[in-house]
Amino acid sequence: MTVGFPVRGRSWRSLRKQMKHMCKDDLNWRRGRHSAYVWYANDEIKRVAQNAYNMFMTENGLGKRVFHSLRQMHADVVQMVLVLLGGPDGAGQMSSGGTESIFLATKAARDWARQRKPHVKTPEIIAPHSAHPAINKTAHYLGMKIKRVPVGSDFRADPHAMAAAVTSNTVMLYASAPAFSLGVIDPVEQMGVAAQKHNLWLHVDACVGGILGPFVRRLGHPVPGFDFSVPGVSSISADLHKSGYTPKGASTVLFRSPELQEYSGFDFDDWPSGRYQSLTFTGTNPGGAIAAAWAVMNYLGEEGYLRIAETVMNIRRHFEANLRRLKLHVWGKPDLWAVAYGSDIIDIMTVASEMRARGWAVAPVRRPPGIHFMPTPVHEPYIKEYFSALEASIDAVGRTSSAAGMQVDYA
Ligand SMILES: Cc1ncc(COP(=O)(O)O)c(C=O)c1O
Repeated sequence: MTVGFPVRGRSWRSLRKQMKHMCKDDLNWRRGRHSAYVWYANDEIKRVAQNAYNMFMTENGLGKRVFHSLRQMHADVVQMVLVLLGGPDGAGQMSSGGTESIFLATKAARDWARQRKPHVKTPEIIAPHSAHPAINKTAHYLGMKIKRVPVGSDFRADPHAMAAAVTSNTVMLYASAPAFSLGVIDPVEQMGVAAQKHNLWLHVDACVGGILGPFVRRLGHPVPGFDFSVPGVSSISADLHKSGYTPKGASTVLFRSPELQEYSGFDFDDWPSGRYQSLTFTGTNPGGAIAAAWAVMNYLGEEGYLRIAETVMNIRRHFEANLRRLKLHVWGKPDLWAVAYGSDIIDIMTVASEMRARGWAVAPVRRPPGIHFMPTPVHEPYIKEYFSALEASIDAVGRTSSAAGMQVDYA
């Protein structure tokens, strides 16, 4: 059925009814069926976020000169993340998400290199194979070249291989904290040494781990360094709408200094309305996302984030114990809450299809073959159901040796 532009408006009651109907077959994240897309802690946080979002839904984050409230909240949010990650006062910006933050950092690296390395015509980025595709998208948009280098046997970036791939055109090294697929943090310290040696920009994609990772460390887990305390780190992207548990449309990009941040900006005045300066890719941006991030972060405070960190690390512990019981193994040594698991004797990709047929939206990992799991507090009561479905899926596939010869291909 084609739908045209409605001639007459309809009541909210009827729209709501239709929308409820439309989402009846959606992923049931409220029952923990997801392993990506949704970061949800509890209904209380949702209410705070919703109220704050609604209060500023109509205001425009672009107009910080006139919306003093949003300017203040934006400054507070950025400052909170800078404090968390050891950055200098004021050297950061909110953006619409991880991809935009990565874009802004990479644009800064490219423009920095235009000044510092004027001989470079096609600037190159060197990233581990495990990096999120957002960096390829960015390189594509910015006319940069990207080389993906195989990870080491621990599935982390291999700093020696990356250093060996550096050419006179290289401007940027890229690390993840953690990488999405297996949840491992790259050896940022060693990469920082290489970046300094070759005079390169080092970006740390902490889109997943940037907000909650420091709290996991405070709980006593050995989280490797990935913030500005590591020499050589030039910029960090840290998403609020992921492990900051704020509504979508909210990330941060931080720089080692305000001078480095300046390279991310855009400044133009050859049009009728005068000077247009911007530190983001988007123009108009949602006041609601800024306000909700501010409210959620202040609502939770350190205590709230520590509680969430404890919950997700407990889920992971429980999850891993169940994996051992089923003779499945976790790939690598994940540093935070996200894990991926596989098997030498079970065809894990077919198990993933069986899980999906049972209503679990598991995310597959291709290399090495596995299933990814990103715990959030909403998963806690459903781990038992997850493992019942997993056992049934394994039974359906069978434990044979047909998968035993499956080679792990790191490249
Ligand atoms: C490690 C990592 N970086 C970047 C991104 C991109 O973030 P966004 O989808 O918010 O643009 C993601 C998304 O999952 C991610 O996991």
